Amino acid sequence: MAAGSRMDTKVPDRLNVDAFELRLADIADVALSQLQALSMSVGWPHRSQDWQHLLDVGHGFVAVDEIGRVSGSTMWFPHGENFATFGMLITAPRLQTNGTAEWLVKRMLEECHQERLRLNATRAARRMCATLGFLPQQTVFQCQGEILCVPQAGDIRSGLELRRLERSDLDVVVALDEPAFGTLRYQHLVRLFESSICYGLYDGSNLMAYSMRRRFGRGHVVGPVVAYCEEDAVSVVHPHVVAHVGSFLRLDTHFDAGRFASFIQQSGMSVFDTVTTMVSSKTASYGGLNAGSPIVFALASQSFG
Ligand SMILES: CC(C)(COP(=O)(O)OP(=O)(O)OC[C@H]1O[C@@H](n2cnc3c(N)ncnc32)[C@H](O)[C@@H]1OP(=O)(O)O)[C@@H](O)C(=O)NCCC(=O)NCCS
Repeated sequence: MAAGSRMDTKVPDRLNVDAFELRLADIADVALSQLQALSMSVGWPHRSQDWQHLLDVGHGFVAVDEIGRVSGSTMWFPHGENFATFGMLITAPRLQTNGTAEWLVKRMLEECHQERLRLNATRAARRMCATLGFLPQQTVFQCQGEILCVPQAGDIRSGLELRRLERSDLDVVVALDEPAFGTLRYQHLVRLFESSICYGLYDGSNLMAYSMRRRFGRGHVVGPVVAYCEEDAVSVVHPHVVAHVGSFLRLDTHFDAGRFASFIQQSGMSVFDTVTTMVSSKTASYGGLNAGSPIVFALASQSFG
């Protein structure tokens, strides 16, 4: 069965895992501290505020054991029409390889009613997602580290103006983003905008590139970043790097070579890990494949895409 299509069989609400019986619960009904403990158990850096952001824009399930401990999670994030990303798929280490994640994902696919799904799968999840019908598309390079220096960014293209974005710029940000991301993600961009410092590169009244930076995990994350070309992507990321010399910064990108990737890596953000962007069908792919179309240079996060 292809990912994203409705399944005939109903996925049960309970699962026997090892010596435990796990039951499904709505992720909105458990304490943030339990979710944070779960993500910490697999070495993820999410703070309770990061979980709150996920809950503000997404839905999900948790697997709860008999004494109320949260032993697994999965979430999905509706974006535009008939499109969602999914992520935050976690099984507590002591219960892994017993089918919990597969159970959670199958139940999620039943519930989320989205035809077009995209996720960023870790090595541990990739095979399971392929079995469920997801197709691998691109590698994501998770770049992070302490900013050591600010590499030469080159001059901003002649006639263009780089400036901090304000709420009144949001509509043009959304319009530039849609063809790059592959679907309209208005609600997500509004929420990101509220917690981010944003820059835009304008050619007159035309927005050519934008970038956001917000608090996340161990430090700050730069993303999303959307631009028509590497040169402009570097221009809008440059002020974030300047602001973080000596501190921890992260950026997740599909680029591991070229001008943009060199700028990121020379600044001190080296490749820490990779994940694989997978889709339920080609219609869930990123845009930006046609010449002249804007491109996503940095993800908002691995869960949001
Ligand atoms: C990825 C992750 C969620 C998988 O959770 P899990 O509950 O162990 O997953 P499942 O048991 O459903 O399936 C995982 C594998 O175990 C196998 N498995 C399932 N039941 C099993 C059993 N009873 N005995 C042995 N192996 C079993 C599955 O076949 C699957 O194998 P695969 O490598 O062929 O895909 C878990 O490893 C984890 O939390 N990792 C850290 C966070 C992470 O990477 N999340 C993924 C984000 S996309």
